[in-house]
Amino acid sequence: MRTKIFCDIADFKTIKLFNKKRIVDGFTTNPSLMRLAGAKNYKNYSQRILKICKKKPISFEVFGDNFDEMVDQAYKINKWGKNVYVKIPVVNSKGVFSGKVINKLSFEGIKLNITAIYTYEQIKKVLKNLNKKTPTILSIFAGRMADKGKDPLPVLKQSIKAVKDFKKIEILWASTREAYNFTQAKQIRCNIITMPPSVINKVEKFGMSSKLMTINTVKNFLEDSKKSKFRI
Ligand code: G3P
Repeated sequence: MRTKIFCDIADFKTIKLFNKKRIVDGFTTNPSLMRLAGAKNYKNYSQRILKICKKKPISFEVFGDNFDEMVDQAYKINKWGKNVYVKIPVVNSKGVFSGKVINKLSFEGIKLNITAIYTYEQIKKVLKNLNKKTPTILSIFAGRMADKGKDPLPVLKQSIKAVKDFKKIEILWASTREAYNFTQAKQIRCNIITMPPSVINKVEKFGMSSKLMTINTVKNFLEDSKKSKFRI
């Protein structure tokens, strides 16, 4: 199996550029990335993106904070395109598990991306509510975990094992912090990793020799010392 690379971005121009790359298999967005991209009208902005990204899978998140709002928004988002996955946070802002929403939408055949997952307990609860025949992505926020001093690998490994018999269910390494996370994701046979464009650019350049890395590093320091006209 191959670990697929998704690009974690909502910026229209960047999606246009990265959609052309063979290394990029799909996209993930979230409300923060949409805000960062300057989106004013969520629907219009998403549909503009979908005019560019017509085939590769792309996730758009609901931002409703209760069952009815989430379901209503999910139905609308689902209609935007065949390649769309509806992102549902595993809990709402009050910490209430979104199981009912997930169950309803999944058994209606709506492709979901369950997001903001941090524990294996959450994975187990979500799995109980999924139609295993509906394509589903489970997004584990590895980087945000690591930022708080927690090792994300055990949760990821357990989750990958738990879904290995379900062809349509994929574990996604979300919240990537460095290019080496791609190597780690491959080692544990994670289905997907979503990475910011800057990290994808680094992965594209994997394989540089240590000798060249040393020379480039020293060159950079030398150039900066010259630019600053340093004297001792
Ligand atoms: O899109 C979800 C996730 O990848 C966000 O990552 O960098 O905001 O922790 P980050």
